[in-house]
Amino acid sequence: MDFLEYIESHRDANLNELKEFLRIPSISTKTEHRADIARTARWVADRLREAGFANAEVVPTKLHPLVLADSLEAPGAPTILFYGHYDVQPADPLEFWTSPAFEPAVRDGKLYGRGTADDKGQVHIHLKALEALRKSQGKLPINIKVIIEGEEEVGSVSLWDFVARNKERLKADALVVSDTSMLAPGVPSVTYGLRGLNYYQVEVKGPAQDLHSGTFGGAVPNPITILAEAIAKLHDKNFRVTVPGFYDAVVALSAKERKALRSLPWKESDFRKMVGAPGLCGEKGFSTVERIWCRPTLELNGIWGGYSGEGSKTVIPSKAFAKISTRLVPNQNPAKIAKQVERHIRKLLPKTVHCKFEVLSTGKPWVAPFTHPIFRNAIQALQKGFGKKAVFIREGGSIPFVTQMHDTFKVPCVLIGFGLPDENAHAPDEHILLENYFSGIKSIAIFYSDLAQI
Ligand code: BES
Ligand code: MN
Ligand code: MN
Repeated sequence: MDFLEYIESHRDANLNELKEFLRIPSISTKTEHRADIARTARWVADRLREAGFANAEVVPTKLHPLVLADSLEAPGAPTILFYGHYDVQPADPLEFWTSPAFEPAVRDGKLYGRGTADDKGQVHIHLKALEALRKSQGKLPINIKVIIEGEEEVGSVSLWDFVARNKERLKADALVVSDTSMLAPGVPSVTYGLRGLNYYQVEVKGPAQDLHSGTFGGAVPNPITILAEAIAKLHDKNFRVTVPGFYDAVVALSAKERKALRSLPWKESDFRKMVGAPGLCGEKGFSTVERIWCRPTLELNGIWGGYSGEGSKTVIPSKAFAKISTRLVPNQNPAKIAKQVERHIRKLLPKTVHCKFEVLSTGKPWVAPFTHPIFRNAIQALQKGFGKKAVFIREGGSIPFVTQMHDTFKVPCVLIGFGLPDENAHAPDEHILLENYFSGIKSIAIFYSDLAQI
């Protein structure tokens, strides 16, 4: 049997096995799920062993374990490092799920459940492609190293350390990742750029404790008003970030790239429908695609303080808080941007309040030319697997490991995503199109198989 027939005959078995993977609530941010995380790591290692990776192992770290394996039996063929993550985001708010987050269900050609698109479903695509190649041919046509982590959704902290101390073990000719999206249904895509991410928390403190707003209101600083005023000044009327120096290092888009982005099969009206807002807005002088993929931004992720329960409570709160993030593009330096953002926010606040500014995480952007022959290979494999034209895209999200591998080994990073932007990653009713899951397995098997020749 050739590997494509093997894949075709294992459709049901593969889908059932993916459901098993999805049922384990491997939420990396919550301590109460540590045992589930450990169970998921073992589950992945077991599946790798079944796929012929005899040395698959679970490697403990300070936080969540890594799963590692390799198969190096193809002399002369390239060595690929495959990376993915088995951890998922929390399922909250639970009440908005049509079917429970950890009870995968098929509706309308889509598989619903936390982790279907980000990233268990996409990791499973590789596991099943590799298994098909091994089972139908007796051995793999390429050399492959596998690293699947459990901390991506909390910043890949342990991975940093591991990569620094295990360079030889991870060294490869290229990195392959499936943790991104396709441009649109029927448009298989290879992603050549991601934005970096810095995350901050701001605490503004006025009075030493909460105060009666009748007794004190009018004569004391209200931290909510003061924080809101500062936040309102972080963008100007053209939606540009006002932090001094924020754009200084940003590399301008070339005319050639702008033209390529303009000619992608992407419709602004579909995007607006997907967003569901009455209108769109963003930095003046740039198209929507440029704004979400290629331009740096500053976003408010949360703001709280004072009373927000039922009814009224007359109070001047002692503190107000905000969670803020910046998405970064080449050549912005995350550490420098963090300092600039802190300095600017402190400057915007009056002397009547104290400010605590925390940098929760930083991460560099990644954009790379797709000149290496492996990219042509990826496009061709997608075209065969999907029977559709494949395109090169950038994306606005962040994957810390990609930047780290690119910086450490200077190898091509091939990001082949099988999700879709409207599949509710991190949100209720996350799902993956079954067609993309099945065509994904075929495409990846073709990709790895054809790589033997380059
Ligand atoms: N798979 C995503 C990254 C992604 C999202 C790539 C959208 C392309 C398009 C990843 O799991 C993720 O959610 N990353 C976080 C950052 C991380 C450090 C928590 C993100 O982008 O917010
Ligand atoms: Mn992901
Ligand atoms: Mn994610």
